[in-house]
Amino acid sequence: MSLWIKWICLFPIFKFVITEERNFRVIFDNISLSNVDPEVFERFDCELYQIDNRSYVDTSHIFRETVTDLKVHAALDFWKAKSPKMTIYDIEFDGCHFLQNVHKNRLFNIYAKNLKKYSNISFKCPFQANVLYAVKNMTMNEDDFPSFLPLGKFRSLLEYSVNQKLSARAYINGKIISYSTRPF
Ligand SMILES: *[C@@H]1O[C@H](CO)[C@@H](O)[C@H](O)[C@H]1NC(C)=O
Ligand SMILES: *[C@@H]1O[C@H](CO)[C@@H](O)[C@H](O)[C@H]1NC(C)=O
Ligand SMILES: *[C@@H]1O[C@H](CO)[C@@H](O)[C@H](O)[C@H]1NC(C)=O
Ligand SMILES: *[C@@H]1O[C@H](CO)[C@@H](O)[C@H](O)[C@H]1NC(C)=O
Repeated sequence: MSLWIKWICLFPIFKFVITEERNFRVIFDNISLSNVDPEVFERFDCELYQIDNRSYVDTSHIFRETVTDLKVHAALDFWKAKSPKMTIYDIEFDGCHFLQNVHKNRLFNIYAKNLKKYSNISFKCPFQANVLYAVKNMTMNEDDFPSFLPLGKFRSLLEYSVNQKLSARAYINGKIISYSTRPF
């Protein structure tokens, strides 16, 4: 537990300069969407695929109306082998300018960086109506993480509220597995 918390909260925000071999991989097992409000979204879908033991995600969003009020509730639970559930974070934040902000939570900086890298449009308010906001081929790059992560399972919850009303909920189940890129 302390490792996660230390890494997320206490480390200063800087890029890792030393590239060490990573012995783990972040795998997404499945993603489920629910409570998608058809009055808010003309389209909201998400596709997960696995290639060479790596998970990739494509998502597409189209809003029906211009969105200027987007709140996000995000939670991450983690289960280390044979240990009880640990909540890594459980917070609400303004989703309007998520990508433009620097986050104290370093995991959020990884998400933000990935969103920017794998999307072709800026995810910020006002979100335009009838425009495709797409993320393609997004994957978790191990080098963004510290050189050691505890292995285990995780469940990530994302709830989007537009104009103070729950508009979509996503659960991502996954795991951190031991993975060596180097043959013995
Ligand atoms: C994927 O993982 C399996 C089982 O660990 C391994 O046998 C295979 O070589 C891996 N494939 C790649 C492309 O790394
Ligand atoms: C983003 O890519 C999608 C196709 O994946 C395309 O339809 C859309 O017009 C693109 N948007 C921008 C702003 O380039
Ligand atoms: C997705 O990324 C993988 C590896 O980075 C690459 O091999 C593949 O061609 C990409 N696919 C698309 C549709 O960009
Ligand atoms: C999703 O993956 C988790 C493991 O990460 C598994 O326990 C769960 O049964 C899976 N759910 C579905 C609907 O496949």
